[in-house]
Amino acid sequence: MQTNSWVPLFPDQASTFAWQVDLLYAYLIIVSVAFSIPIVVAIFYFGLKYREKEKYATPDEMHGSIMLETVWSIIPFVVSMTIFLAGAYVYYNQFQIPKDPAMEVYVVGKQWMWKLQHSTGQREINELHVPVGRKVKLTMTTEDVLHDFSVPAFRTKNDVVPGRYTYLWFEATKPGKYHLFCAEYCGLNHSGMGGWVYVMEQRDFDNWLSGNVSGQTPVEQGRDLFENKLGCASCHAGGPQQRGAKLEGIYGHEVKFVGGGTATVNDEYIRNSILNPSSQVVEGFQPIMPTFKGQVTEEQLVSIVAYIKSLSGVTGTTSASGDAGAKQTASNSASNTTPASRGNANSQGSNPNAPAANSNR
Ligand code: CUA
Repeated sequence: MQTNSWVPLFPDQASTFAWQVDLLYAYLIIVSVAFSIPIVVAIFYFGLKYREKEKYATPDEMHGSIMLETVWSIIPFVVSMTIFLAGAYVYYNQFQIPKDPAMEVYVVGKQWMWKLQHSTGQREINELHVPVGRKVKLTMTTEDVLHDFSVPAFRTKNDVVPGRYTYLWFEATKPGKYHLFCAEYCGLNHSGMGGWVYVMEQRDFDNWLSGNVSGQTPVEQGRDLFENKLGCASCHAGGPQQRGAKLEGIYGHEVKFVGGGTATVNDEYIRNSILNPSSQVVEGFQPIMPTFKGQVTEEQLVSIVAYIKSLSGVTGTTSASGDAGAKQTASNSASNTTPASRGNANSQGSNPNAPAANSNR
């Protein structure tokens, strides 16, 4: 199966951008060789030609050459700019997550395994089944340390970072079985933290999907946690009891914070609201929500986020803006120094309202 790569020793080219990465890489190798060989040859040639023949010889006087200097400035400029432009093109191709992926998979790294869940509910460990020719988006995080989800045949990889979501996408171009690796040293069994990506024809994939017990989908799991296990609904559901912000329709919209500052509601924002509620109290609400840090796993958080997105009619197929969107505005971070928000920060953990709110669970 190790065929179809026109660069020797390289793994299969099995994604839409594999050839681009290889082409860029081949170009880098050619440029390196094209510069290294003449330089090494010149060192030896000049070393011999201009070796010392006569003690205390006076060298010939040298004058500059505009021609020579122009040439050796323009050539490296063109070479480095093509590397830059091609690199930027390939990078944007890989990290502009498509707005309309055909399929979404949630990935949680854990020492030392990959836990994956399809938006239709099927779970996999160290294996990922995907259909050929469809855009697949991965939303990834980790329960513990830094990992890195890497599929060499797809020529793509991305870090999986504690405390935030990172994204990856690919479109596989041919059916097969491809290695999946953890590409960031993460402890004793790092080298064993890998598996396989199975790229299947759509028909085979549909069979596989229906042949697997799907259980609850992430949205269903999230609803269950929200309404029952964690009791979020006791404050966030509508009605006279409502003390927390309404969550319907907020996804992708901007929220204002007490003390100034705004943020756009995305995956990262929702996750942070669950774990550090007092860090971003929405205008019009009291900082009474207790933190759920330590009470929910990353897998559960992923499903709660999926559920809250579904309240805005987002079926898990948007927000690839990821990192950039998660950053709150500068005015908000500045506002963290206001007395009010300082009070909030300090009261975290010893919030007098917290026990009352907790008892709702
Ligand atoms: Cu996980 Cu290395």
